[in-house]
Amino acid sequence: MNQLKTLLTRQEIAKRVAEMGQQITSDFKDQAIIFVGVLKGAAIFLSDLAREVKLDSTFDFIGVSSYGNRPSPSQELKSGWDSTGEVKLTKDVDQSMIGKNIILVEDILDTGLTLTYLRKILLAHQPKSLKIAALLDKPSRRKQPIEADYVGFKIPDEFVVGYGLDYAERYRNLPDICVVPRE
Ligand code: IMP
Ligand code: MG
Repeated sequence: MNQLKTLLTRQEIAKRVAEMGQQITSDFKDQAIIFVGVLKGAAIFLSDLAREVKLDSTFDFIGVSSYGNRPSPSQELKSGWDSTGEVKLTKDVDQSMIGKNIILVEDILDTGLTLTYLRKILLAHQPKSLKIAALLDKPSRRKQPIEADYVGFKIPDEFVVGYGLDYAERYRNLPDICVVPRE
């Protein structure tokens, strides 16, 4: 692996996550919410965001994986990866979502295929409301017309790791968000 380059420092992330938490706190004043994190990338963001939200809340997690021949990460970096858009649920939520306020928490909104699929699944649970919080957004990559209600940072089309995001399951524990250079 070449040198990773810092894109967002832990201080910048903490400041923005605190602002997002304040926004959610005021948008949902006095209501209870369920944070639903998308495994595994959103785990760190969820744990920081939830502590900045001053509301009665519970946590849940949902798991997805993509069908198809995802290339090796190095191939993916060189030529990108075209998903068929078919996503499969590997873990459903544990608690009832009927009539609840859900905040779906994701590390990054890229093509939008994953969140489009998850939104459909969660809406089938008949929540009172469903909002999406994404730490990062790569708008230039979108294939499905979906936007997050709360976005931390819009970033260019670069492959990033750290703060929960991985490259072949590694680097999730980096405190900063870094760009993986394309060779
Ligand atoms: P989407 O369905 O294309 O929006 O995919 C979103 C998922 O792709 C995220 O949950 C990440 O797991 C993964 N992903 C997209 N871009 C990156 C990146 O730059 N670094 C690490 N994972 C990424
Ligand atoms: Mg993910």
